[in-house]
Amino acid sequence: MRIAITGHKGQLGTVLQQVLVAEEIVGLDLPEHDITDPVSIVETVTALEPDVVVHTAAMTNVDGCEQNPDLAFRVNTLGSQNIALACSRCGAAMVHVSTNDVFDGRLDRPYYEWDTPSPRSTYARSKAAAEFYVRTLLNRFYIVRTAWLYGRGGDNFVTKIMAAADKHGAIRVVTDEVSAPTYAPDLAEAIGQLIKTRHYGIYHFTNGGICSRFDWAKKILELSGRADVPVEAITTAEWTRSAAPPLYAPILNFAGAELGITLRPWQDALQAYFDG
Ligand SMILES: NC(=O)c1ccc[n+]([C@@H]2O[C@H](COP(=O)([O-])OP(=O)(O)OC[C@H]3O[C@@H](n4cnc5c(N)ncnc54)[C@H](OP(=O)(O)O)[C@@H]3O)[C@@H](O)[C@H]2O)c1
Repeated sequence: MRIAITGHKGQLGTVLQQVLVAEEIVGLDLPEHDITDPVSIVETVTALEPDVVVHTAAMTNVDGCEQNPDLAFRVNTLGSQNIALACSRCGAAMVHVSTNDVFDGRLDRPYYEWDTPSPRSTYARSKAAAEFYVRTLLNRFYIVRTAWLYGRGGDNFVTKIMAAADKHGAIRVVTDEVSAPTYAPDLAEAIGQLIKTRHYGIYHFTNGGICSRFDWAKKILELSGRADVPVEAITTAEWTRSAAPPLYAPILNFAGAELGITLRPWQDALQAYFDG
């Protein structure tokens, strides 16, 4: 099997290269390969003749997307359209990595794979529009929604919490944003299992369980030897940012579990991150 990975220098792309089993893995990332170039990226992917393209490349700075919506839609939506068109041209299956942010967080239960997206932020709208392109341009696709991704070497909530604790000696974290963290190597393993099934469709892969950003931060501090750092519980109304995240947006792994693909509890995954 030949696999192309877009965004292979990012958090998920880096571990996908280590975890996926294939005869050949080719990475496509900036500055050599720009998914927004509608001619060259389509030609490049088509010429590789991959069996599967795992599309992780995206503008992932959620507040940055709010400030520069044209760029967000160019990268996240039209970039994904370009990758889907390339897959259509060369007959590759596509794994499109998406987000729990496509939901508005207004239900009082976790979201199933078949729930209807209702994105609120620019990032979320750009990712939901990408899902639409993938669904309409391809027959053989996996849309894999995830949430709160972190991995070693990445700039993420885990590293930000530790840096803020070290800098300020005390931190404030929101209690009303609820989902589940996802350890990038666990997501990469799940994607590796999924592409072997050829069971195309929509999947929700996060680590197991549900928590608030506050719960997650407390566990990060505990496992990193910073349990004595005080954490003030606040609400999102007290935390100014450009983009409004969905508040209660855990996503349930129903479809993947039917295929035997499950991810361990988020606390165990966080322990594995710190164990190295
Ligand atoms: N991070 C999260 O919490 C989270 C949550 C839910 C879903 N997701 C989704 O999961 C996927 C992977 O996320 P991640 O955290 O691994 O992202 P990441 O670390 O930000 O990596 C994304 C990669 O894509 C590259 N990229 C950006 N624009 C590009 C372009 N025009 N052409 C080619 N490559 C480009 C980036 O390069 P530069 O660094 O040079 O820009 C980076 O190497 C994304 O689709 C994201 O939307 C992430």
